[in-house]
Amino acid sequence: MDLVREARILLEKNRRTIDGHTYTMPSPSTYPYQWLWDSCFHAIVLAQLEPEAAKAELLSLIAQQFPDGMIPHIIFWGKEVSLPFRIAWRGAPTSSITQPPMLAYAAWEIHRRTPDKVFLEKIYPGILSFYKYLIEKRDPQDHHLIGIINPDESGEDNSPRFDGPMHTHTDVSFTRHMLLRHQLVQKNRVCSFDAEICMSKNFWVKDVPFNAILVRNLQALGHIASFLGHKAGEHFALLNEGLIKTAMREYLLSEGVFWSASDHDYTQLRVATWAHFAPLFADLYTKEEADALMERHFNNAETFRAPFGIRTTSKQEPSYRPGGFWRGPIWFGPHWFIYKGLRAYGYKGEAAFILRANLALLERNGFREYFDPETGRAHGAHNFTWGTLTLDMIEE
Ligand code: GLC
Repeated sequence: MDLVREARILLEKNRRTIDGHTYTMPSPSTYPYQWLWDSCFHAIVLAQLEPEAAKAELLSLIAQQFPDGMIPHIIFWGKEVSLPFRIAWRGAPTSSITQPPMLAYAAWEIHRRTPDKVFLEKIYPGILSFYKYLIEKRDPQDHHLIGIINPDESGEDNSPRFDGPMHTHTDVSFTRHMLLRHQLVQKNRVCSFDAEICMSKNFWVKDVPFNAILVRNLQALGHIASFLGHKAGEHFALLNEGLIKTAMREYLLSEGVFWSASDHDYTQLRVATWAHFAPLFADLYTKEEADALMERHFNNAETFRAPFGIRTTSKQEPSYRPGGFWRGPIWFGPHWFIYKGLRAYGYKGEAAFILRANLALLERNGFREYFDPETGRAHGAHNFTWGTLTLDMIEE
């Protein structure tokens, strides 16, 4: 497969322009709108292929930013909203929840490859207010851990990390889980999606990947602010990056790995998922801790290492399902985060394993959504864009 060529074709085929706003659908048949972290992934890849399209993709996200700074996880762009995606309040043109904040990283990546100060100046206020929103509205205890109000905000809709807070069990079906998430949306409508109230009443998870991604993005925000000469923004980014890092280690690290936590009292959600590896992306483990993580989990076939990559849920978890969406299968998004973390820590062999796994999955299945870790069999959406992230791995 000529990956560069195929990636270019797919990203072009999935691209739409509505009222002057250009975005890429993750999959035209299954996911026909614009998604927040997906668009950041697209921008990272397009930064190499077509910088102008990468910039347009991020500016379209900012176009629908809420007055309080939140950026919604789905923008419907005038299309009819089918049932699984009805996560909006009062007929809004977007969903009413957010997704992992990859925006600053993506914007800085565009500029890193093709310097463009005008673009950065244009997008900076929107980016800054998004991160301010997360830090000011999603941390009512002022403990420097950001909360999510629905599993969908993690991007890992039915991950077993959330089984406890969702009051469900290891055998929950895909459909039943979706129903439960819709019931949660219903409850959050009652509290007007006001994060503080919704978190204290309905669902409040301080999620490891979300917070690790935030830390790494605050670093990128710091670079942007410093480049543009915005001292206050630079200070904000640096300060919060440090505070969140410290809080994650204080509240979420036990027995050598990070666990998400819920509610006021930081109950750790002891379900082993790829969230153990996400902190590598934000330099949260010491080298000694990372070495132990590699030995205990990354290179352990009984937990995470599978023939076709790294499982999103450990094989030892009772909730592990090799075809179960976020309950085990391999996804290109987590693979990309893990790969970047491994490279930063200098685990070259392990990183090469992830890249080889991606190439094998793409060769065998083309651009599909998620994969059985044991057999490599593809599941879910067709013409799904996340496989294009592999381009950003090959190049290094
Ligand atoms: C699925 C994924 C989510 C992604 C969306 C669009 O819901 O779980 O992470 O953003 O599809 O691709």
